[in-house]
Amino acid sequence: MSSKLVGHEIAASTRIHSLINDLVQEVARLEQPIAEIREPDPARADHAKSALAEIGKYRGRPLVYPYLGTGAGHGPYVELEDGSVKMDLINGIGVHILGHSHPKVIAASVRGALSDVVMQGNLEPNHEYSLMGKRLVEVASKNSRLKYAWIATCGTMANENALKMARQKHSPARFVVAMKNAFAGRSTMMAEVTDNPAYKQGLPEYNEVLRIPWYDASEGARSTERTLALFKEHVAKHEKNISCLVFEPMLGEGGYRSAPRDFFVPLLEFCKEKKIAVWADEVQTFMRTGELFAFETLGIGSYIDICTVAKTLQCGATLYTEEYNPQPGLVAGTFAGGSAPLAAGLAILEEMVNGGYMGPNGKIQSIHKDFVGMLNRLNETTCKGLLREAGGMGLMIAVTPLDGGKDTVTQLLHTLFKNGVIAFSCGRDPYRLRFLVPAVMTSKDIAVAEKVIEKSILEMA
Ligand SMILES: Cc1ncc(COP(=O)(O)O)c(C=O)c1O
Repeated sequence: MSSKLVGHEIAASTRIHSLINDLVQEVARLEQPIAEIREPDPARADHAKSALAEIGKYRGRPLVYPYLGTGAGHGPYVELEDGSVKMDLINGIGVHILGHSHPKVIAASVRGALSDVVMQGNLEPNHEYSLMGKRLVEVASKNSRLKYAWIATCGTMANENALKMARQKHSPARFVVAMKNAFAGRSTMMAEVTDNPAYKQGLPEYNEVLRIPWYDASEGARSTERTLALFKEHVAKHEKNISCLVFEPMLGEGGYRSAPRDFFVPLLEFCKEKKIAVWADEVQTFMRTGELFAFETLGIGSYIDICTVAKTLQCGATLYTEEYNPQPGLVAGTFAGGSAPLAAGLAILEEMVNGGYMGPNGKIQSIHKDFVGMLNRLNETTCKGLLREAGGMGLMIAVTPLDGGKDTVTQLLHTLFKNGVIAFSCGRDPYRLRFLVPAVMTSKDIAVAEKVIEKSILEMA
């Protein structure tokens, strides 16, 4: 018989299990009052102001919002140091898909935190690293040829690894084809792939990215033809010098613009013909569009060579097919992820797979319908014409408010924040009001959001 391992004993310990359970229940008991929007407490104003000023002092600029969390929250609600409770509809830009303080997420984090090490790396991993890779490959390979997963700390790092894999396979091809208004992350190369001059002020142009336009719904099939024609022009000019096409299945930071399957298929067919890697950047769409992967929602999984995920997973990962498995030495890095985040990411993935969220009749599509319906209702009634083009995919929802100008939307975001809802912007010309709605949002919560959005729009109009 094999010897007993202490690590296995800890994992199986009913005493530890019950201690974690007690902790989670006690936190939930204490957090019960965080169940509705609350105004700041004037008695806490000085303390909150100086705590926020401190952040600004040491990072060289203030935060976008006067947001300093106390560490307590409940579902879509979060408590701040100024005593206020806000409805958080941006969730750390899409990280807390199960909202704040979800009991399963806390329990998994605590369990992960009991590991012998805080951070796990690619040289000496523990179980969570192994389980994460296995589970990702299991779910990704259902509707695609993706076969491997390489774990990294964030979306940018997952994207860097993806690009290296595509480039190594198609060496020495230099160019990348990316969408207009794309966003890919904050490293030097991902800033280059990103199409927003404000995010690369003062950086040199590396001239390694070729652009094609995103789908224009007002033009339909003509828009698809134009994009394909431009893609073909790039390829004709740079034959065998293009490693990959990278695209977000729905344009994210670029404005929450979706595109139909028919837009992607000709582009992806052309990639196959020309041996250009197809890389779906699902850093923002993963778990959110009604299926785990947006390539499943769109039915384009068979074309995907590389796919990157992050945010909701609490770590990053690059998924790839057999042909893109890189040579040893190309990808590595000290950190893969923290023991607690890896454990929490696994718990979130399980909940999203098994908790009734996915599919045409799942919770995600129902939240989408209700939330978009609410925005459209306001646009037709009390906020007539002031909330246009509500849409998106699943839990990623945006609307063009008021005149869609940059300053207007910035002011609206601060008005919403003051009134109790945290949102963010996306797109340029027009700037759009963006929501990353948590998957735990109820109809009652949507009704609360409606009141705040209505009040804020009317205050601004
Ligand atoms: C589509 C997309 N790619 C990459 C990234 C970068 O991910 P991270 O911020 O985790 O580095 C983001 C982040 O918003 C994103 O939306």
